[in-house]
Amino acid sequence: MTALTRELGAIAGRAFAAEGLSAEFGQVQPSDRPDLAQFQCNGALAAAKAARQRPRDIAERIAARLKAEAVFAKVEIAGPGFINLDVADEALAVMAGAMARDKRLGAPETGAGKTMVIDFGGPNVAKPMHVGHLRSAIIGDCLQRLFRANGWRVVSDVHLGDWGLQMGQLISEIGRRGLAPAYFDPGGEGPYPEISPVSMEDLEELYPAAAAACREDPARLEEARRATAELQAGRPGYVALWRHFVEVSEKGLKREYGSLGIAFDLWNGEASVDPLIAPMIESLKTRRIAEESEGALVVPVAEPGDKKEIPPLILLKSDGAALYGTTDLATIVDRVKRCDPDLILYIVDQRQHGHFEQVFRAARKAGLGGKAELEHAGFGTMNGPDGKPFKTRAGGVMKLHDLIAMTTDEAKKRLAEAGLAGEYPPEEQDDIARKVGIAALKFADLSNFRLTDYVFDLTRFTRFEGKTGPYLQYAAVRIQSILRKAEEQGFASAARPVLRAPEERALILQLLALPDAMAAAELNRAPNVLCDYVFTLAQTFSRFYAEHHILSEKDAGVRAARLGLCGLTLAVLTKVLGLLGIDLPSRM
Ligand code: ARG
Repeated sequence: MTALTRELGAIAGRAFAAEGLSAEFGQVQPSDRPDLAQFQCNGALAAAKAARQRPRDIAERIAARLKAEAVFAKVEIAGPGFINLDVADEALAVMAGAMARDKRLGAPETGAGKTMVIDFGGPNVAKPMHVGHLRSAIIGDCLQRLFRANGWRVVSDVHLGDWGLQMGQLISEIGRRGLAPAYFDPGGEGPYPEISPVSMEDLEELYPAAAAACREDPARLEEARRATAELQAGRPGYVALWRHFVEVSEKGLKREYGSLGIAFDLWNGEASVDPLIAPMIESLKTRRIAEESEGALVVPVAEPGDKKEIPPLILLKSDGAALYGTTDLATIVDRVKRCDPDLILYIVDQRQHGHFEQVFRAARKAGLGGKAELEHAGFGTMNGPDGKPFKTRAGGVMKLHDLIAMTTDEAKKRLAEAGLAGEYPPEEQDDIARKVGIAALKFADLSNFRLTDYVFDLTRFTRFEGKTGPYLQYAAVRIQSILRKAEEQGFASAARPVLRAPEERALILQLLALPDAMAAAELNRAPNVLCDYVFTLAQTFSRFYAEHHILSEKDAGVRAARLGLCGLTLAVLTKVLGLLGIDLPSRM
């Protein structure tokens, strides 16, 4: 099925074409004044300019043609030449019926035949995940779900930070403490033990200690640098130790992402492209794209029209070490080789925008990106009540599982206050509270435009009223329960709704707007568009539910039509919440 606005636009386009004007003027959009009309077409104004005619004359000729179309119940000209349109109830009912039969619920096929790589998550081995990583995970996961639903082939990559100085810091710290002497034998070749000499808890203690020592003592820093260089040069004991760090961290990270319902296709890291770096640099050197500058090897990326200075991308420091930008550049080479994407999208803190600008320019200059469009979709910070990036009460980095435990507790309180789930078995209550807590967290994050900073306010996020995840879960669960009761009573449900009341019409119009919301959210990489859509849908349903009997309706035909509408609403709510990464409890 095609989106309603597109179908109406095609009809209006034909009317313009029949008047000898471009069909492109036929674009139809939801009305800015829903009190006056459902849709509007503003093309007569632009067409008039192009054809040097009076807008009102063109609007009248187009309107006369549209009035002959059965799909429109009302065609009116407003102001200088806007055309206001209402769709006939019969046509709305037919479209809603088609939507209900469509497994994809009319999702746009914007990605048909296209491949994207989405780079999100980006946690660092041995360093705890912070709230920035959480935002990247929540936003990135929503976008990977959305792009997939819109027909893209999506390859998601967590892009672990596993190759930097922090690795050498850890290695030298372990060496100093004598925790794993076997790995430090200078001529050692292995084999080395299969079991890691350090646990995740060890790493969490070792890394901050090593980092602090390096900050204080230049000699320690030098030692860590040397260990990093030796690791990157392939010293067997260090490589074996590094593998343990990565494995231990990966296990913990998979558990954490798993508890949020977030999965990645690839668990590649910065290190995985290391073998590509030397040949890439050779090629950049021979092609004179890279040049020496103060002992380092750089790619100048400044362009004539730049408003502010864009420094060159450093490929190799004077000591020969590769940097963050180097691995990012080599990762583009790798991704193009592996799946030749149309788009590589990076969901990373906006504060790294300058970095991506440098990397993308270098990639374009060197022709490394194939046909891929390279795009950084940044995000702002999640702040604490003090307006600074969110921390624990003690001022430390909040660990993800502590955050989830905190939201689950709050959700439990809220459920109890609302008198929900109280009589279910304890395990089910826990499961519901977890789902509600995660919904609160995700919806709060996604409902702000991603570049906007927002304040973490658990009390507000977990409310069952207002624009929150829990409110939407509750709205869906309530429809589930209506449908369950209808089934128990053997009530039929009609696939094709019949339109009798304004609340039904409003609900169907909102349901039919789903494809537009999905397309707009994709276009702007903006999950908040989906949040707005689904919140309006829940409210529109609520108004319908308040005005009309469903289970208690005596007329079987009317009841079946309304149950059909409930079914379609639930399908759409479930789908959009699914795109946001929000699960529904089966009851509350
Ligand atoms: N590990 C990085 C950090 O913690 C984020 C990685 C983002 N992705 C990328 N391709 N650079 O800041």
